[in-house]
Amino acid sequence: MNKALRPAVIAGNWKMNNTRPQTRELLEALKPLVAGAGCQVVVCTPFTDLEAALALTAGTNLHVGAQNCHWAASGAFTGEISAPMLAELGVEYVVLGHSERRQYFGETDATVNRRLRAALDAGLRPILCVGETLDQREAGITGEVVAMQVKAALCGVTAEELGRMIVAYEPVWAIGTGRTATAGQAGEVCGLIRQVAAGLYGQAAADALPIQYGGSMNAKNAAELLAQPDVDGGLIGGASLKAADFAAIVEAASK
Ligand code: PGA
Repeated sequence: MNKALRPAVIAGNWKMNNTRPQTRELLEALKPLVAGAGCQVVVCTPFTDLEAALALTAGTNLHVGAQNCHWAASGAFTGEISAPMLAELGVEYVVLGHSERRQYFGETDATVNRRLRAALDAGLRPILCVGETLDQREAGITGEVVAMQVKAALCGVTAEELGRMIVAYEPVWAIGTGRTATAGQAGEVCGLIRQVAAGLYGQAAADALPIQYGGSMNAKNAAELLAQPDVDGGLIGGASLKAADFAAIVEAASK
């Protein structure tokens, strides 16, 4: 496995945080701190902040993502946002299948697959989230659960399209809990995800796929997690809301 084959990507998942003035404040603080980053840097904002974030990051090395999209291009889906709507705004990335969507909003492997299909069709770069619950880990079925989520999400996705994707391994028990997976646990499951991708698309495509770890990654633990051979970046929740903390993780990924 060779890390040089793929870019490191640090993405902030702001979740349901930040008004437009707060978006301005955070991005203005962040821009100079990450201007020299040696990795890709993405901020995934609430829908209402996307336009402001795009304007504030124009001409910088910061990329903008959304946190979900619907599977239809348009239609009678009150309250939803489509992938073409995001693409038209200039949004590049979209988080899909986050465990909070699965847990609170009825997201299933099947709906994640449909949303992923729509995102790819619209030219977006999906960040596909997978991860086991604590019960599943304790039952010893982490590998099966994560492999199943990856395979189900990637149904109908071509190798060329995989080249536009990022997979984020986020153990549910580590998200927002302050309880991080050990570097060994993170590395093991990210390695397994790469094996699954290799089985579906061949080793070269799998070697080119950035795989992030997410779940209480912070300025202190980032370097150790990112040193794992199959951990190519991070999807950062809480620590992405503070410019200095997020910048420290970007710096750790730039080494
Ligand atoms: P956390 O969230 O860093 O706050 O644990 C990660 C995520 O849910 O993407």
